[in-house]
Amino acid sequence: MSGRLPSRDEKPVLQVGSTGHLGGLILRELLSRGKRVRALVRPGSDASKLPKDVEIARGDLLDPASLRGAVADVSAIVTSAIGYSQRKQGDSLRTDREGNRNLVDAARIARVPRFVFLSILACDQASDVPHFWAKKETEDYLAQQGVPFVSLRPGAFLYAPEGGYGQMIRQGLEQGQVFGMTPEGIRITYIAPSEVARAIAMAVDEPRALGQKVDLGSDRPLSGPEYAALIGQLLGRPVHLAQMQGGRGRSDDDMMAMFRFFQTGKYVADTRRQAELFGPVPRIEDAARQMLTGLGLLPGT
Ligand SMILES: NC(=O)c1ccc[n+]([C@@H]2O[C@H](COP(=O)([O-])OP(=O)(O)OC[C@H]3O[C@@H](n4cnc5c(N)ncnc54)[C@H](OP(=O)(O)O)[C@@H]3O)[C@@H](O)[C@H]2O)c1
Repeated sequence: MSGRLPSRDEKPVLQVGSTGHLGGLILRELLSRGKRVRALVRPGSDASKLPKDVEIARGDLLDPASLRGAVADVSAIVTSAIGYSQRKQGDSLRTDREGNRNLVDAARIARVPRFVFLSILACDQASDVPHFWAKKETEDYLAQQGVPFVSLRPGAFLYAPEGGYGQMIRQGLEQGQVFGMTPEGIRITYIAPSEVARAIAMAVDEPRALGQKVDLGSDRPLSGPEYAALIGQLLGRPVHLAQMQGGRGRSDDDMMAMFRFFQTGKYVADTRRQAELFGPVPRIEDAARQMLTGLGLLPGT
């Protein structure tokens, strides 16, 4: 891992969600930038895979008292935690609403200088999509409470996670199918999770980011057929578009509402601010190649 070593005097960044898929990438980015990291990990959750130099603070977003010690004396909070993905029995949007409000309250009381929030692209236009709207409500609450924040709003992740979802994508591709979310002419923004993690880690101390809501994406949005054509081109064989069905382990109604929202054409990032703050916006080809490599369908570089 490259980057500078953390100074002993430097206050840690509190990361919430470090045991998650994206959370793990964010943690690596923070450490490679020389940040000291304190990870808020739920009691009973496995922290054994986190690097040894990460300080563990046991706590739960739904237990306000457990957050007090965790937020003390930190330089920033970074959170990508969600209940929407239902990693544990009983997880729900309560975490995304009430849990995030608890964290904002704790940040305000402890006067944390910066709260980096992982939001969702166009969440403020999607009142019919509960997990999008929960992000918008948290952004509003941060502003109302006067907590200095940066909100990053990425598009759809081109994901290759281990487990069921990654397997579903891989199996589809092996059978020449890709899951597309929009028809011809309606485009949405996709992004590589690594780029999201990079921007979040930079947002911790980029002075111009403070107070901003920043869309994150790749160089251009794609329709479903364009996405299938790109994947086929990278794999060197034809790939056809399959319709996305409801998911496993999440609320299907919420997911179907999200697919309906995608059909409005509003899920498209304006990447100008991303470029100003975080550097050149990556090409969609690179994001797709990264996903296919992660799925083991293209050789690594
Ligand atoms: N997928 C997309 O296309 C997309 C698009 C835009 C934005 N996003 C955002 O990207 C992020 C995805 O993150 P991810 O991949 O890391 O999610 P993930 O794999 O589902 O992990 C969720 C994390 O939240 C933690 N968590 C859950 N409930 C908690 C609680 N009550 N208190 C403390 N921590 C709690 C989990 O900890 P445990 O180990 O204890 O379970 C885990 O670390 C989300 O913020 C999502 O909204 C995704």
